[in-house]
Amino acid sequence: MGVILAVAGSAVGLGNFLRFPGLAAQYGGGAFMIAYFLALLLLGIPIGWAEWTMGRAGGVRGYHSAPGIFHVLMGTPAGKYLGMLGFVVPVMVYMYYVYVEAWCLGYAWLALTGQLSAGTDFGGVFATYTGIAQDGSAVHFGLESVGLWLVICYALNFWFIYRGVSKGIELACKWGMPLLILIALVILGRVLTLGTPDLAKPDQNVLNGLGYMWNPGDIAAGLKNPELWLAASGQVFFTLTVGFGAICCYASYLKKKDDVVLSALTAASANEFCEVGLGGLITVPAAYVFLGTAGLVGMGTFGLGFNVLPQVFAQMPYGGAFAFCFFALLFLAAFTSSLSMLQPGVAFLEEGLGLARKPALALLGLISTFGSMLCWWFSKDLKALDTIDFWIGTMAIYVQGFILILVFGWSKGMGIERGWQEAHIGADMRIPRFYKFVMKWVAPAFLGAVLLMFILNSVFGWNFSFSAPHFAPTGRIKDLVGAEHSDPARLTFLFIAICVGFSALLMHLAGKRWTDNPKENKS
Ligand code: TRP
Repeated sequence: MGVILAVAGSAVGLGNFLRFPGLAAQYGGGAFMIAYFLALLLLGIPIGWAEWTMGRAGGVRGYHSAPGIFHVLMGTPAGKYLGMLGFVVPVMVYMYYVYVEAWCLGYAWLALTGQLSAGTDFGGVFATYTGIAQDGSAVHFGLESVGLWLVICYALNFWFIYRGVSKGIELACKWGMPLLILIALVILGRVLTLGTPDLAKPDQNVLNGLGYMWNPGDIAAGLKNPELWLAASGQVFFTLTVGFGAICCYASYLKKKDDVVLSALTAASANEFCEVGLGGLITVPAAYVFLGTAGLVGMGTFGLGFNVLPQVFAQMPYGGAFAFCFFALLFLAAFTSSLSMLQPGVAFLEEGLGLARKPALALLGLISTFGSMLCWWFSKDLKALDTIDFWIGTMAIYVQGFILILVFGWSKGMGIERGWQEAHIGADMRIPRFYKFVMKWVAPAFLGAVLLMFILNSVFGWNFSFSAPHFAPTGRIKDLVGAEHSDPARLTFLFIAICVGFSALLMHLAGKRWTDNPKENKS
């Protein structure tokens, strides 16, 4: 139960309540959901089974981080490098995720103290709070700005990780998850009973709000859009936290005969309930009912959550209370997720460098503070945040997921036969046979195609045409080279490169340690 809640806590996050509704609305509900569920069934769930299985197998041999687990399961020196992004991705996503987590906490405070009521300049609050208009403009420490909350979020995260897996992470998730679902249900009840608040605008009612999100629209045209497939698969990985080291780490604390098959499925189902059932019914309909399409188009994920929704709550009776609940909900969701970004990092530093927990946390704190400060200072257009989110939070996630499923299905140390057997040790249910084929062939092929298309399109600017291919540098490239480059983007990219290089060095050191005194069967 503890580990299922922890994985569910890691999965249910800002992705569920902000990113998912934003994407589904943007790509036209129906078509997006088809691609999304296919990606869930063919990528998310099977890769989740693979990762849980590898995590437990590595943990039984005494390793708790993706590099360590890959090292011991594959039995080759390359293993640790193949698992390296399982250390880099969570730690680097933490750097910007915690910044947004601080907005949630700060907004909850604003709502509680009545500063999000009707008549507030919401756009202004959003701009000052997030610093989106001007570099350095979010760097303040008062109660009405993000700095103090950022410090509090850092302290909370590190304190809970310091307390350890069961007294920290499990405790937070055991209380946080039920509370989160309760709050979400209350808000959902409120949103679904809004009816038609403004009789002068009869179109802006709950049913149309749901329709805006869910009506199928032109499914065939939607499915022909490759971008929709990329967005849907990317969302599945991000939201399930599958494929890049966090689940490896959490599952490594299981015992040899603890079930992984049903647990993986339960955690994934809990996430989908929160994502489709709660996130999918709250955010977009609420905005639509009060503001119509104008409130939704072009707002971006963060604009929707932190600019549009406060306006929406301000128009409801008892809006302050609901706004407080909503941001408290977002904070809880974000907090249990960010814990899962730190634990893989700490686990690696402990076992790879032989550090005790305190120095490991200190080192991790130092590195991640630096990254968070970049996001905090270079806040204009959220450039630093966005740069890390693209290269690490999207690209590197695909890469690590791809490596993980290949290692599971094809490597000498694991391979599909052994993996399949290993997964079923102590299992409370059997995986349908057809998934053996999916895990070996379909998932890697599907994900490989997604990764390739993503790189060709988002980096090289391919227009998705085979007959008349055309390439033009995308904003991502223009940010880094050429006349229109952005210095914050360059600096952030350099920082990412340094972090990756530094991690490679750490892998090398860890590898030495692990070959000199193998841990096999010691714990
Ligand atoms: N699944 C989380 C969400 O939906 C995000 C998340 C949790 C994550 N842990 C992670 C992303 C580790 C990258 C790395 O918001």
